[in-house]
Amino acid sequence: MSEYSMVKPIQEEKLLKDVKNVILVASGKGGVGKSTVAANLAISLSREGLKTGLLDADLYGPSTPIQFGIDEMKPSLTQHNGKNYIEPIEKYGVKLMSIGLLTNKEDAMIWRGPMASKTLKQIINDTLWGELDVLVIDMPPGTGDICITLAQDIKQAQALVVITPQQLAVADGRKALTMFNHPTIAMPVVGIVENMAWFTPAAHPDERYTIFGKGGGQQLANEFAVPLIAQIPLVMDIEEMSDTGKSIYHSNDKTLHQAFEKLAVDVIKQLRHV
Ligand SMILES: Nc1ncnc2c1ncn2[C@@H]1O[C@H](COP(=O)(O)OP(=O)(O)O)[C@@H](O)[C@H]1O
Ligand SMILES: [Mg+2]
Repeated sequence: MSEYSMVKPIQEEKLLKDVKNVILVASGKGGVGKSTVAANLAISLSREGLKTGLLDADLYGPSTPIQFGIDEMKPSLTQHNGKNYIEPIEKYGVKLMSIGLLTNKEDAMIWRGPMASKTLKQIINDTLWGELDVLVIDMPPGTGDICITLAQDIKQAQALVVITPQQLAVADGRKALTMFNHPTIAMPVVGIVENMAWFTPAAHPDERYTIFGKGGGQQLANEFAVPLIAQIPLVMDIEEMSDTGKSIYHSNDKTLHQAFEKLAVDVIKQLRHV
C-alpha cells in the first residue's frame, strides 16, 4: 500500500474552492497532444503572471512526472488547519500534482471507473493548491466516467478541446464537444486547439506541409460555434523536450513559443473569474 492511501479522511468540501478558474484539457482521442498542450499551456499561463496549477488526471497513463522531469520526486505530506494535505511539486512556476507521483504504476492500472473517479476527487481535495488563478487539468482520453464526473463536479470549469487535423481525431473531438454541450454537463468551451496542424522543414522555412490534413479544426469550430483558439505546428523536438522534462520554451522553434504565448493570452481573455 502506498503512503498516499494512508491520508484520511476524505475532505468533503467544495472541490477546489480557492481555485478561481479550471481548464479541462480534453480530447476524444489519445495521442493527439493533450498532455503536451496542457503542460505547456500551464507554463505559458504562469509566464503571463497567473498563479497556475496542473493536475494530471490521466490515471491510466500519467504524463506530468516525466514531462516535468519530477518522476523521481515524492510530494511531501503537510498539515493545514488540522488536516493532512499533499504538497504539490512546483516547477516552471506551476504547482504540479499527478497520480503518478503518489502510487506505483501497477496500482493505477487496475482501477475500475468508479474507483478511479473517487481516487481522483480525493487527490484534488487533498492537494494543498493554495489560491490559484487557474488550474489546468490534463484529462484522460475519451468521454468516460472520469471525464463526466469531473465535468459535473467542478463548477468553475471550462473546457479546451485538443484535436489533430485528421478526420478520425476530428470525429473524436466532436464526441468530446457533444459531451460538454450536453444539458447535464453544459460546460463552456474556451476553444479548440488544432495540434500538429502543419510541419515546416528547417530547409524550407516558408513552407507548411499539412501532413495530417487541413481544415479539421475550423470545421469543428464552425459546427459547435466555438473559437479555433490555436493551431500548433508539428515540431520535431517537442517529443525530446517532454521526454527530458523540458518545456517548449527550451525548443529553438520560435513559432512554437509564439503559438503557446498566444494561446495563453487568448485563454486568459476567456477566463470567467479574474
Ligand atoms: N506539436 C507536436 N509536434 C510534435 N510532436 C508532438 C506534438 N504534440 C505532441 N507531440 C508528441 O506526440 C506524442 C503524444 O502527445 P501527448 O501530449 O502525450 O498526447 P495525449 O496526451 O493526447 O495522449 C508525444 O510523444 C508528444 O511528444
Ligand atoms: Mg496524455
